Amino acid sequence: MSDSPSPSLTRRDFLSTSAKLGAFIAAAPYIARGADGAKTADQVNVALIGCGEQGRILTNAALPIPGVRFKAVCDIWPYNLTRTERLLKKFGHEAVPYEDYRELLANVKDLDAVIIATPDFKHSEHTVAALKAGKHVYCEKLMSNTIEGARAMVVAARETKKLLQLGHQRRSNPRYRHAKDQIVTGNRILGRVTNITGQWHRAVTDDFGFPNGQGLSEAKLAQYGFANMHEFRNWRWFKKYAGGPMSDLGAHQIDVYNWMLGSNPRSCVASGGVDYYKTHEWYDNAIAIFEYPTKEGIVRATYDVLTTTSAGGGYHEYFMGDEGSLKISENPKYTKLYREARAPEWDQWAAKGIVASPLSGEGAPPPVKPWEKVGVKKLGGPSKAVVDVRETAALSAWDIPVTLDKAIHQPHLENFFDAIRKGTPLNCPGESAFATAVTILKINESIAAQKQLSFAPSDFTA
Ligand SMILES: NC(=O)c1ccc[n+]([C@@H]2O[C@H](COP(=O)([O-])OP(=O)(O)OC[C@H]3O[C@@H](n4cnc5c(N)ncnc54)[C@H](O)[C@@H]3O)[C@@H](O)[C@H]2O)c1
Repeated sequence: MSDSPSPSLTRRDFLSTSAKLGAFIAAAPYIARGADGAKTADQVNVALIGCGEQGRILTNAALPIPGVRFKAVCDIWPYNLTRTERLLKKFGHEAVPYEDYRELLANVKDLDAVIIATPDFKHSEHTVAALKAGKHVYCEKLMSNTIEGARAMVVAARETKKLLQLGHQRRSNPRYRHAKDQIVTGNRILGRVTNITGQWHRAVTDDFGFPNGQGLSEAKLAQYGFANMHEFRNWRWFKKYAGGPMSDLGAHQIDVYNWMLGSNPRSCVASGGVDYYKTHEWYDNAIAIFEYPTKEGIVRATYDVLTTTSAGGGYHEYFMGDEGSLKISENPKYTKLYREARAPEWDQWAAKGIVASPLSGEGAPPPVKPWEKVGVKKLGGPSKAVVDVRETAALSAWDIPVTLDKAIHQPHLENFFDAIRKGTPLNCPGESAFATAVTILKINESIAAQKQLSFAPSDFTA
């Protein structure tokens, strides 16, 4: 699972996560060498701000990328700072540790880029400062927990002419890119897309803890804007720091809706509440409905995030057209294509390597019979009734013949570093991530207002 660190992180879990992380890095195919000499032409010097779960996942994903060199790490929590510093050292990166990002930006020489993986309420401050210090920025999603914060990031990137990539990593996943370029938009294999559903269903989780003796002092927590250790560790559930599960999990998937359709919604209505947890502020279960205007007509889209049950098939996005459907997920085991019986044959697309032949074997639906394509079936017997079978015809299941053979965040980081080194266009620049942030933040607004809210096209422009 890409998002939301392991459900409950008690001391024991912490240690076990550390061990697994060490094992993962030890198995990494590329091990960076020490950088004693001068900076090479393709070297990108990087600092990491925010060394928590996602900071280390991004570090892991960046380590195999040739030419990437970590020069500094920053975190207000010594526990996480030291862990990340040590991990980098194992692989030849002498990253100087900082508590205060301002000192890092002022003191680290030859720094090209900053990766930001702090809680959402700090993204804008950290990103704007890094851009103004002349660094390119890769910042985690959700861009910001406020529209003003997100807008300031886009404006700073524009003014400084530095690159700003947001961490909606599905946009660089080759399977998602193939689905968009070759199936949904290019070739229009699904026909006219009329509906989308999407979900992230997750079982009940415990709150995060911290190892004995490793808590931050009250003064330090207050200095950095946290009320206490519980909120510091579980910031995603509190309104001051983040947007709750819709922004934590839904951000990825609703970003895919906007990106895949090439459109932003015109309205949003949502329902949700703090139905289950006693120590959280944000809606634990929420359901949203969007209307997307497209050239071919309206697309109605639903999305639900549940954090009290994992039933219903985990997390995926499901694009439904009149000729076929695409069920796609960052987890490849949930990805599948379905052809409507009335659609033209897909063998031509299989021959070109755009879709893969229907699965046979366990779990595969039965092949479509010729009479099912006709759409009517004559029954025998005296009534000679004619039954319309179009609605019940089985859909044949197909695959996407593209796999990702590296960590899920690596292609998105590669895209960022290619943009720095070669001018490759960013897959998720600030402007389009801004539209996603506007879309997501409206869900919580609609829940609070208990009504449908509209978007003006200008809302999506920073
Ligand atoms: N793209 C993805 O798939 C994905 C997955 C998980 C998290 N995320 C995002 O990554 C970010 C971090 O999430 P996480 O799960 O790692 O959280 P986390 O709580 O594990 O880590 C956050 C880290 O930031 C540090 N921090 C807090 N305030 C700071 C400050 N002012 N200066 C420096 N460091 C500070 C904390 O000490 C902590 O180490 C969030 O924006 C989250 O939405 C993205």
